[in-house]
Amino acid sequence: MTGAIESIGIVGAGTMGSGIAQVTARAGIKAAMCDVSDEFLKRGLNAIEKSLQRDVDKQRLTPEDKCQIVARIKTTTDLADLRDVDFVVEAVTEDVAAKSDIFRRLDESVRTDVILATNTSSISITKLAGVTSRPERFIGMHFMNPVPVMKLVEIIRGIATSDETYSVTRELALTCGKTPVEVNDAPGFVSNRVLMPMINEAIFALQEGVATPEAIDQIMKLGMNHPMGPLELADFIGLDVCLAIMNVLYDGFADSKYRPCPLLKKYVDAGWLGRKTQRGFYDYRGEKPVPTR
Ligand SMILES: NC(=O)c1ccc[n+]([C@@H]2O[C@H](COP(=O)([O-])OP(=O)(O)OC[C@H]3O[C@@H](n4cnc5c(N)ncnc54)[C@H](O)[C@@H]3O)[C@@H](O)[C@H]2O)c1
Repeated sequence: MTGAIESIGIVGAGTMGSGIAQVTARAGIKAAMCDVSDEFLKRGLNAIEKSLQRDVDKQRLTPEDKCQIVARIKTTTDLADLRDVDFVVEAVTEDVAAKSDIFRRLDESVRTDVILATNTSSISITKLAGVTSRPERFIGMHFMNPVPVMKLVEIIRGIATSDETYSVTRELALTCGKTPVEVNDAPGFVSNRVLMPMINEAIFALQEGVATPEAIDQIMKLGMNHPMGPLELADFIGLDVCLAIMNVLYDGFADSKYRPCPLLKKYVDAGWLGRKTQRGFYDYRGEKPVPTR
């Protein structure tokens, strides 16, 4: 794909997929968002509506522009409906098998010049590219959460990613108002290789009773000037996503320093996944989050 990108396919309408649809549609690109059920698509569209409405309320967007942005987003439960798009970003659950299956199917249905990008937080770009017949047109496009707010897009080159693929992806990130930063393929890339062990260590500190969740978060906010503490950030990211990333680091480096904390595993087993299930290291059901330990 050499010319400007006019349409984009987004697979997954969750936290990240809906955010990516929002920023691309706001940049004037037609977005086709695919998920497994209408219910998930509806939830994604609601999140987009709410986020754009906040901008209307703050007079950062006119109601007319909001309507036009929403009108640029189409939804489908059939991956084959993405066959005519100019670029694809995959943002489904952090699972190699699920992502590989999607890329095999996309590789067969979209034009051969179309770039396939993944928003994976940690899975090898080279490995996912390997299931397609176009590893040179495969790349990592790692948006941050919440997508409409965060400036960074970490762009990860797999071993075979071409320079042209990199520059088209970089241009797309710039068109969406983001700042692209280039990295090479390694477990967790740079962002999560540095961030996740810190979150995991905070959970170990909690497990060992070193301090309460609030104290751990306060120390990192007030002492290190982090805008959010590591435990509230884990709840925000999703504890299942955090665990999946730790497992990728642990397997990828074969180094015990990346061992996921047992308490993190326990919370995920319990279905306490953070904000999205209203319970993680904090309980979000009341007016104010309260620690669950
Ligand atoms: N949450 C974060 O802070 C964050 C940040 C950066 C990157 N990521 C990455 O983005 C990706 C998505 O994360 P998320 O937080 O949006 O997850 P999420 O659970 O909010 O959304 C995932 C969506 O994918 C859908 N899905 C699953 N299998 C599918 C399939 N076969 N076809 C179509 N849709 C399918 C699910 O129904 C769900 O709606 C993951 O790879 C994650 O690692 C997450």
